[in-house]
Amino acid sequence: MKEALVRYLVCPDCREALRLTVFSSDHQEIEEGELLCSSCSTVFPIVKGIPRFVPSDAYVKNFSFQWNTHRTTQVDSLAGHSESLTTFQTKTGLSGSELTGKLVLDVGVGTGRFMEVANQLGAEVIGIDLSFAVDAAYTNMGRRAGVHLVQADVFRLPFRSETFDVIYSIGVLHHTPDTNKAFAGLPPLLKHAGIVAIWVYVDAGEYSKRLDRVRAIASRIPRFPLYGVCWVAVPLLHVMARIPGFRGLAMHIPVSNQGRGITWDVLDTFDAYSPRYQWKHSEPEVIGWFKDANLEEIKVLSFPVSLRGRKP
Ligand SMILES: C[S@@+](CC[C@H](N)C(=O)[O-])C[C@H]1O[C@@H](n2cnc3c(N)ncnc32)[C@H](O)[C@@H]1O
Ligand SMILES: [Zn+2]
Repeated sequence: MKEALVRYLVCPDCREALRLTVFSSDHQEIEEGELLCSSCSTVFPIVKGIPRFVPSDAYVKNFSFQWNTHRTTQVDSLAGHSESLTTFQTKTGLSGSELTGKLVLDVGVGTGRFMEVANQLGAEVIGIDLSFAVDAAYTNMGRRAGVHLVQADVFRLPFRSETFDVIYSIGVLHHTPDTNKAFAGLPPLLKHAGIVAIWVYVDAGEYSKRLDRVRAIASRIPRFPLYGVCWVAVPLLHVMARIPGFRGLAMHIPVSNQGRGITWDVLDTFDAYSPRYQWKHSEPEVIGWFKDANLEEIKVLSFPVSLRGRKP
């Protein structure tokens, strides 16, 4: 953790300033320490370079496992592709000129794949996540200039109001108990004229129903066996989907087939079947959330359901 982060942080409960005590650091990063709320005296520990505002990874243990197992698979600079740059642009519509020199919040940072993109486009980025994905992101990006990681819950964010120029959240809010409520907490953290951009899952009719039927069972299987099943089932179902007699059966267990290699498909399939919460939404519904937050310049992007808007 960089000392510069402290000025953006507040106690998530009483919203007062935090006092930093450093236990160990090198010249650039605070490794261990604590943040004390000057009002309610709560202590938030800094462990392995990350301030922790949650006591555990609660209902996202699947994501802790997934992102530490696949720490590099989707990170452009570490995997040697540009998938994250393309996805970031498609799902947020954010341009370099909207990010350069700006303070940006990445909500549900995962391994930091999109934080890398925003940082390379010139932004100072704070990434938050409820899961221990923050440790993977810290290994990937934590020591870079203009990058900060915080373990926190989107429903209890430790930031002052009107702090950020840009907030984005890609593939995260529908994995919380209440997508709309999670979104509603973000615009208050934007500065005047700040931009918020989100991508949430679309309701894809019969396909979504099939996925949910399998997930209802799969998400109860402990994560190690489930992950092993994915390594067997994904290649098997890819083959079955090509054999006419088995195609119908294979359709009932949708697995990822992105053409980016088996590792990516296994990760994506585990990602689809392991989450406790995975809501689906429609464009009109999400437009309604943006209107309720009094956002302007609401734009619906072509990839469903991706929207952005500006705070007046
Ligand atoms: C599918 S992953 C997406 C990660 C990243 N945005 C990406 O696209 O690679 C969803 C992330 O949302 C996080 N998440 C779920 N509920 C959360 C909450 N209440 N607060 C913060 N993060 C949460 C999970 O831990 C997980 O890392
Ligand atoms: Zn407090």
